[in-house]
Amino acid sequence: MAEKEVMETSEAQIAVHWGEEEYYHPSPQFIAQANMTDADIYDRFSLDNFPNCFKEYADLLDWYEYWDTILDTSDAPCWKWFVGGKINASYNCVDRHLAKHKNKTAIHFVPELEEEKVEHVTYQELYVRVNEMAALLQDFAGLKKGDRVTLHLPMSPELPITMLACARLGVIHSQVFGGFSGKSCADRIVDSGSNVLITMDAYYRGGKLIDHKEKADTAFEEAKKEGQTVDKVLIWQRYPGKVSAETPMVEGRDYFVNDVLKDYYGKRVDPVPVPAEDPLFLMYTSGTTGKPKGCQHSTGGYLAYVTGTSKFVQDIHPEDVYWCMADIGWITGHSYIVYGPLSLGASTVIYEGVPTYPDAGRCWRIAQDLDVNIFHTAPTAIRALRKVGPDEPAKYTYHFKHMTTVGEPIEPEVWKWYHKEVGKGEAIIVDTWWQTETGGFLCSTLPALTPMKPGSAGPGMPGIHPIIYDEDGNELPAGAGKAGNICIQNPWPGAFQTIWGDRDRFVTNYYERYCKNPDSKDWRDWPYLTGDAATQAEDGYYRILGRIDDVINVSGHRLGTKEIESAALVVPEVAEAAVVPVAHDIKGKEPDLYVSLKPGFEATDELAAKVSKTIVDEIGAIARPRKVWLVSDMPKTRSGKIMRRVLGAISNKADVGDVMTLANPEIVEEITKMVQG
Ligand code: WT7
Repeated sequence: MAEKEVMETSEAQIAVHWGEEEYYHPSPQFIAQANMTDADIYDRFSLDNFPNCFKEYADLLDWYEYWDTILDTSDAPCWKWFVGGKINASYNCVDRHLAKHKNKTAIHFVPELEEEKVEHVTYQELYVRVNEMAALLQDFAGLKKGDRVTLHLPMSPELPITMLACARLGVIHSQVFGGFSGKSCADRIVDSGSNVLITMDAYYRGGKLIDHKEKADTAFEEAKKEGQTVDKVLIWQRYPGKVSAETPMVEGRDYFVNDVLKDYYGKRVDPVPVPAEDPLFLMYTSGTTGKPKGCQHSTGGYLAYVTGTSKFVQDIHPEDVYWCMADIGWITGHSYIVYGPLSLGASTVIYEGVPTYPDAGRCWRIAQDLDVNIFHTAPTAIRALRKVGPDEPAKYTYHFKHMTTVGEPIEPEVWKWYHKEVGKGEAIIVDTWWQTETGGFLCSTLPALTPMKPGSAGPGMPGIHPIIYDEDGNELPAGAGKAGNICIQNPWPGAFQTIWGDRDRFVTNYYERYCKNPDSKDWRDWPYLTGDAATQAEDGYYRILGRIDDVINVSGHRLGTKEIESAALVVPEVAEAAVVPVAHDIKGKEPDLYVSLKPGFEATDELAAKVSKTIVDEIGAIARPRKVWLVSDMPKTRSGKIMRRVLGAISNKADVGDVMTLANPEIVEEITKMVQG
């Protein structure tokens, strides 16, 4: 077993450690068809060949003007890629495929209700619909290059169509995960300075029709309070008349896209060639403070990186049917449902709903019906599918050549079920480790070249050179048997450019920790801090243990503990709030919330329920705590700091360690009794 780590961390502290050292190898059939079989790739992408190696990725794209400088470091650590180049992402994902593949399916859309028709959108149809929407955004919504627009769309073809319409104009899209609340959407509208909000009337989730438009009304009101007025709310209408009666349209503000679009039928908009470094989109993610940060991704570098990694790691060929079962509202969906696969001219599947709805065989039925051969999902979904239908995959005649797991560490037992049952012992698996900030994969095996090891993400990607530092900045070499902070030594094209509107926070959060010289313009002086703890085995493979900061990974969704605590503090009776991650067999982690009340208030079940509901309203249902514990006081240091580590140990029934140095050690026993019974 790997050594148990003692780090002042949140997730990493309760990470499970595994000791397996088993390798699995790809089949000769897989290798024979793989996009990348050239073992030289690791040499070609060595640090000695950095940054020029990334020309190989840039050359997968069509450029209006070819770039002249591959990497400009003059504004360190805001690295600029492919400077001088002009490009358009919508052109690369749509127009360039028309000559050869216009009749090919670009998007298979599977509604959650099985009685509804599956939609097959060809590249030609995608081209027409993206153009019409771009014309509407330009003329009706008045959007132009550089403007930000907030999207709050559920899983539907209209989401990538809207994204690609924005990209066509050089408009920066900021898609907010559909499950987030109206209030969360408002925060992102305000931060990005969006004047237009694009949403949808309704969608199905778990068999229930969700009125989604109502969130737009909250978002509008809340954003207005913060001084950001949305001029137009554009509503894609999926179920006319079904829910709009309950959420009336506001005249002069709300418009059904489907109606307005009629004026733009047949319209074409030339893609706007934008400098490679123009932002393509913002993706908000959680960090160490209450305020989510807008990760700003570039056009040229990002698209090059996701196209290259889709080709070499996802092994996508034009004839493949590729299904990534993530939500487009997260970075995984942006990179590996929309931009990467479409840039390669693949057929990408979008599934609206819950993987186990209406039964445990749903995913495998979809795979069988659409003849999916590449499948991409997260450990949380794999755990759920394994629990509800361990024998279901065998009942269907699909055939996967390739599968991905992403988003959190996967237990070797779960990996093995995925391999044997879902992959029928034939599919290769890549465990890709990366982040919202990184645009694309950081560590993974290359499917035909590096063997799989259950529970390990694998070596650094070609051109990505990780390094593990201890707390003092010493390098922990491969095989050291100790965990440390995993960093990346070099920049890469997919990395985010900055935090929208907050360069200082960007530098402080990601580059200050191990910076060798803050005045340097040399990338070698600026290791990128990922915020994860990891170990590197003798064979060079990295095992990711979890976050070292105040971030919790719930079902592969990233939540900031401070965000949840801030939401709890909205309740007037609450004095203090502390969130800790607690292990869960399907979700990976769940937030447990400890709350102390202001004097004079009584701890009641109603109050606990009110706190829980407030969190759902402020953030979304994914942030709902496992339990709200109303405690008489928090365990604190003598200087008054809440000891989250102690609360975490109590929630996870682990050893609380020595608590005698606390200001109030007696509280530990009281809380332990309350939580553990
Ligand atoms: C955090 C990033 C990657 C896109 C989806 C999540 C954890 C991600 C893995 C993996 C172990 C993983 C890390 C990372 N994580 N992939 N393969 N093995 N942990 O993006 O929401 O920005 O979350 O997810 O802790 O820092 P995100």
